[in-house]
Amino acid sequence: MQKKIGFLFLAIIFSGLIAAKAEFAQGFLKGTAQSFYQNGGHNSWDSLEKKPQSNWTQFENSKIRFHFDGVFAPWPFPKKSPIAHGEKVGIASDGWRRAFDDIHLIKKLGCNAHRFSVEWTDIEPQEGVFNQEALAFYERYCDALIANGIEPMVTLHHFVHPLWFEKRGGFLPVANVHYFVRYAKKVFERLGGKVRLWCTINEPTVVSACGYILGIHAPGKVLKLYNSGIVLKNLLKAHVDVYKALKKMPGGRNAQIGLVHQAMQFEPYRHKILGLTIVDPIGKQVARGFNFSFAHNAVLGFLKTGVFEYRPSRPLRGIRYRNPAAPKSYDFIGLNFYSKVILGPGPTCYKNQVMTDMQYAIRPETLYDAIKQVATLGKPIYITENGIPDAKDDRREAWIKGYVDSVHQAVRDGFDVRGYFYWSLIDNFEWSMGFDQKFGLYQVHERTKNRTLRKGAYAYRDYFTTAHQNFK
Ligand code: BGC
Repeated sequence: MQKKIGFLFLAIIFSGLIAAKAEFAQGFLKGTAQSFYQNGGHNSWDSLEKKPQSNWTQFENSKIRFHFDGVFAPWPFPKKSPIAHGEKVGIASDGWRRAFDDIHLIKKLGCNAHRFSVEWTDIEPQEGVFNQEALAFYERYCDALIANGIEPMVTLHHFVHPLWFEKRGGFLPVANVHYFVRYAKKVFERLGGKVRLWCTINEPTVVSACGYILGIHAPGKVLKLYNSGIVLKNLLKAHVDVYKALKKMPGGRNAQIGLVHQAMQFEPYRHKILGLTIVDPIGKQVARGFNFSFAHNAVLGFLKTGVFEYRPSRPLRGIRYRNPAAPKSYDFIGLNFYSKVILGPGPTCYKNQVMTDMQYAIRPETLYDAIKQVATLGKPIYITENGIPDAKDDRREAWIKGYVDSVHQAVRDGFDVRGYFYWSLIDNFEWSMGFDQKFGLYQVHERTKNRTLRKGAYAYRDYFTTAHQNFK
């Protein structure tokens, strides 16, 4: 009898454990994400005499006044490097040399998908000259992923582009968009037969807001509100043009092509005073400014209706752009989402919330809200990025469980979410914040660049079970 009770007890605990895990349907993608620039840095290629230069290698060698940590160096103080501690990307986490070994790291996590960027700078280091060595590298890389049962998801633009393109004005002149389309076609020609999932541009709103308003990303322009809107409009146009061009190519009809949108949103701090909730007035204005700059609604509006509207405030010049092809220019939407940022006089979270190493707290319910918002587009959703900067690795498990649960809940509630890609597979170069931010499921050791699975990442490996062998 005692034995029976013991067995029953064990069975209850065991089924409880199983129930606590998120189970997704067959075909759901459990993935990791990274970009080759952040992971492998500034690469040299045997077939090229010089390392290809990009907007970001130019930016890291510049000097600016306003920094990510909010430090402003007014005249006569000297300007500083835009990257924390004056760091340079260098070989980052040695991602190029170890790319093929790193595939085993993905496999060990039980993942069946991996999102990575193809670097335009490496493919077309000089205008119109395509680097066959780089194209061959990506082809071999996709083959190796597929051979390991890992579905590749390619991003064609992840913040970085060749310096020659930047010198022509980057995405500021609309006349430059065709260069991006030409490059995208070259990549598709080579990889289209192997890769089903294509992301055109990573986070157009981050490119425009951080590059042209906050000045913390290349090209480091500050408060150029109008130009920021123009760049955003041109990036959206570039997305539509690439979609149309690739769909016409052999294999285009089978490809699933989408835009990756960062649904970054801000809200004012709410004070609790004598049982009343009072919205912080400064936080309210700052949140408005940030929500405008990161243009979440403007992008959703464009994708829904084909009309892009961007007007900072009345006296300033606004932008209105219509592209009737936009609502039919994506087979899925890639959702990058971390947290909703609270803005006020003090810390960017409430007492009962747990902060990450960046300026946002662990708030899994906000991912659910973001899914709900992008679901109004009526297209399948992939969570193309979500993860935590956590150097101590004492919050990663809670993040993963909370956020994967949110995705799971959304799926159970009928939202068409088809995959989740944790950012990032390994520690990497976090743009202006240099190497301080530790997003990796695997820690990268500073000197040796060896990789070690973090304890907090076990949650991703074990807790999030899915049918990961079903990619063919
Ligand atoms: C970007 C990544 C970045 C991540 C974490 C996203 O905005 O696409 O490149 O590393 O956020 O901050």
